[in-house]
Amino acid sequence: MREDADSPYREGVVLDRPIKSGKGSFVNCGTVKLVQIDKVLQPNVRVTVKMLPETEKHKKYFEGRVVPPETPRTHGALYWGYTIRLASSLSHVLTQCPFRDSGKYDVTIGTSEKGDPVDDFQLEGFKHLLIVFGGVKGLEAGLDNDEELIGISEPRHLFDYYLNTCPIQGSRTIRTEEAILVSLSALRPVVFK
Ligand SMILES: C[S@@+](CC[C@H](N)C(=O)[O-])C[C@H]1O[C@@H](n2cnc3c(N)ncnc32)[C@H](O)[C@@H]1O
Repeated sequence: MREDADSPYREGVVLDRPIKSGKGSFVNCGTVKLVQIDKVLQPNVRVTVKMLPETEKHKKYFEGRVVPPETPRTHGALYWGYTIRLASSLSHVLTQCPFRDSGKYDVTIGTSEKGDPVDDFQLEGFKHLLIVFGGVKGLEAGLDNDEELIGISEPRHLFDYYLNTCPIQGSRTIRTEEAILVSLSALRPVVFK
């Protein structure tokens, strides 16, 4: 985001700067002027700020309100980056869904060259979609090493859909980092329609 971009939300870092009593901390949001927020927070903390309309142009600072980090996405429908969740096993990828509303993924997709061709794939809508990629030895290795998944013979049985996103791939194998780009491109028309 450029410093003069007119964005309803910004990410910023709380500054270690004196503040008058009754006023909130100063935050560097990458804007031309600093932003004064509605709360006093510890210096160096990262915050998501809702930018308030600039009522007086001559003011030395912009004004903003601290909001939860997901607000730009949930209230502003903006892409606001991503978060990372570490899962200690394949089963935990599936069961430790972080979403508070439902607590689970409603559609899950496993990916493999042994999956069904993506060309015929249709999706009726979803709230929380999970797409799972294997490492160098595929999802089979995750299954074989997971004590909670004993008795499940193939990764296919773990997912609602098991997709080959690169039919007629031509090469012996596709790396995970390649498969992610290929799969997200192939699934885009189905996921975002
Ligand atoms: C190096 S590949 C693993 C190959 C492994 N032999 C297998 O059977 O899945 C790493 C990961 O890339 C993804 N991948 C590779 N080829 C794919 C394809 N044609 N369609 C979908 N995903 C693929 C899968 O998630 C796979 O687990």
